[in-house]
Amino acid sequence: MDWGMQNRLGRLIKEDGHCFFLPIDHGYFQGPTSKLERPGETIKPLIPYADGLFVTRGVLRAAVDPRNCPPIILRVSGGTSIIGKDLAHEAITTSVEEAIRLNVAAVGMSVFVGTDYEYDSLVNLGKLVNECQTYGIPVMAVTAVGKELEKRDARYLSLCCRIAAEFGATIVKTYWCENFDRVVHGCPVPVVMAGGPKCETEREVFDFVYDGMQKGAIGLNLGRNVWQHPHPVAMMKALRAIVHEKASAREAEKIFFDGTKKK
Ligand code: 5RP
Repeated sequence: MDWGMQNRLGRLIKEDGHCFFLPIDHGYFQGPTSKLERPGETIKPLIPYADGLFVTRGVLRAAVDPRNCPPIILRVSGGTSIIGKDLAHEAITTSVEEAIRLNVAAVGMSVFVGTDYEYDSLVNLGKLVNECQTYGIPVMAVTAVGKELEKRDARYLSLCCRIAAEFGATIVKTYWCENFDRVVHGCPVPVVMAGGPKCETEREVFDFVYDGMQKGAIGLNLGRNVWQHPHPVAMMKALRAIVHEKASAREAEKIFFDGTKKK
């Protein structure tokens, strides 16, 4: 692996081989998502606990302090909206030149396997990898399900992750699911887990994150279950403990509750 690629990955993935990325890219198709209306304010207290920030160039330039931010994973795909015809109809919207100008550690894009646009999104992934290889930039593929959250099972997600890896993704972001080991074992590159819509309880989040880490995920790219929570810093600390300190779900819960107590 070339020095530049190694250096960028080393900025994102810590020495223990694990990582916790904080995604704030949701506005690229959802608009001003709840609790992310002012992304700069949302992330300010969370930045010290994030190993990376997944963000579009618009929010990066408008709301992220270039002198005080974790390594950036730049979302480079889009072109759809929550009220449009088909969320899967994405293109590459941000150039690799722009990624270099912004000094990012990686780029990320969605693939939509099994949709009318699977061909387009997969060929886009292949082309993005071709270009990013030239400059030593890692590519994170996001296995997107659009509005069809029920698609999140091991059979479907293992198919998506494997295909993304075959197309050259450096890291794959997918959802946790039952039998998550099937997803990880079929994917020859590192897998990180998204959180999905906000869960009912913190413990639910800690349980699935712990299970996913035990089954081979290298970490998280998890947003709403952190920044839509009334205690986002306590959530970050508790999840970091699972990712980086081998904490169990129960230990994470204790860290969370300790973090919510007023000092
Ligand atoms: C949205 C994304 C997000 O980065 C991804 O879904 C992770 O966020 P969350 O934990 O909120 O699901 O790709 O387009």
